[in-house]
Amino acid sequence: MSRPNQSNNNNSRNGNGNGAVGQNNDVYNIVLLIVDIVVLLIKFWLSIAEEIIKVFTSRPQSDVSGQFVLITGAGHGMGKEMALQYAAIGAKVICWDVNEQTNAQTVKDIKQAGGTAYGYVCNVVKREDIIELAGRMRKEHGFISVVVNNAGIMPCHPLLEHTEQETRLMYDINVLAHFWIIQAFLPDMIERNEGSFVALSSCAGLFGLPNLVPYCGTKFAVRGYMAALAEELRQKNPQNNIKLTTIYPYMIDTGLCKNPRYRFPNLFKLIAPQAAAASIIEAQRQGLEEASIPRHYVTVEKLARLIPKKALRLINDFLDTGVDTDKI
Ligand SMILES: NC(=O)c1ccc[n+]([C@@H]2O[C@H](COP(=O)([O-])OP(=O)(O)OC[C@H]3O[C@@H](n4cnc5c(N)ncnc54)[C@H](O)[C@@H]3O)[C@@H](O)[C@H]2O)c1
Repeated sequence: MSRPNQSNNNNSRNGNGNGAVGQNNDVYNIVLLIVDIVVLLIKFWLSIAEEIIKVFTSRPQSDVSGQFVLITGAGHGMGKEMALQYAAIGAKVICWDVNEQTNAQTVKDIKQAGGTAYGYVCNVVKREDIIELAGRMRKEHGFISVVVNNAGIMPCHPLLEHTEQETRLMYDINVLAHFWIIQAFLPDMIERNEGSFVALSSCAGLFGLPNLVPYCGTKFAVRGYMAALAEELRQKNPQNNIKLTTIYPYMIDTGLCKNPRYRFPNLFKLIAPQAAAASIIEAQRQGLEEASIPRHYVTVEKLARLIPKKALRLINDFLDTGVDTDKI
C-alpha cells in the first residue's frame, strides 16, 4: 500500500495546503500503523506456535544423494566422520585437508565402502589456493550443494602463554578461512537460490572458558558472522533459500581437546565423533539455523543468560568442568 507523501503532510500542517487533506492523511497513516501492528502480532504468534509444534514433531530432512558436499578438515575427527556418513547416504563428497595422507585415507575409506569421494590438498589459510581450488571444483564437479567449514585448531593455555603466531593462525583457520570459502561458493548458491553452509563453532562459542581465550574469540566470531550473513541474505532476498547452520559441539573425542576436566564424568562425558557427525548432518538436512551437540546446550545457554553472572559462576564452580592447559 503506498503511503501519503510526508512533505505534503507537513505542507498542509504549515497552512501551505488543504488542512482537511492533511487530517485525512494523518488518519490514514494511523490506520495503516494499526493494520501493520495487528499483522505483526498475528505473524509473531503464528511463528512462535510453529516453532513450538516443530519441537514436538520430527522435521523432514533434505535429500543429499547425488549432490556434492564439500568438507574442510576431512582427514580426521568430525570432518572424516561427516565425509563417511554423507557418502553413506549417497552424497558425492569432496574432501579438503592440509594433510594429504589422512585426507587420501578418508577418500580411500569412502570408495572402499562403495561411495563417491574426491580428495584435494588445501591449506585453508591460503586465500589464493581456496579461490583457485573453488574454480577447479566448479569446472570438475559443477554446483556444490553443501559446504562444511569444519577445519579448526585449538591451542589451549592461558592467554599470556599464547604466542602471536599461534593466535594469528587460529584466527586464520577458524574464522578467516570461512570467509574466503563462503566468498568462493556463495555466488553460485545465490544464482540458484539453493545450497547450505555449515560452520563449526563450539560450546566455546556459547560460553567463555579459561585456557581458551583466543579460541573462544574465534568460535564466538563464527556465531556472529553466521547470524549476520543469515540476515544479509534474508534482507537481500526475502525468498532466500540458502540455509546456514551453525554447530556448537561440546567436547568430542577426536584428540583436539587434550586435557578435558570433569567433576561428573557421567553427566559431561566426551562424545564420540561418529555421533557428533550424525548430529551435524541431521541439523544440516533439517535446515536448522543452530544446533548444539548435545542439542539442549543452546537452550541452556539462552536460559543461562537470564541468570546473574554471580549465580552462574557458583554453578560453574560446582560443576568444575572445562579444559586444562595442553602444556602439562
Ligand atoms: N573436538 C572437540 O571437542 C570440538 C568441540 C567443539 C568444536 N570443535 C570444532 O570442530 C571442528 C573439527 O574438530 P575436530 O575435533 O574434528 O578436529 P581434528 O583435529 O580431529 O581434525 C581437524 C582436521 O582439520 C585439518 N586442518 C587443520 N588445519 C588445517 C588447515 N590449515 N587447512 C586444512 N585443513 C586443516 C586437520 O588436518 C584435521 O584433519 C573444529 O573447527 C573444532 O574447533 C571441536
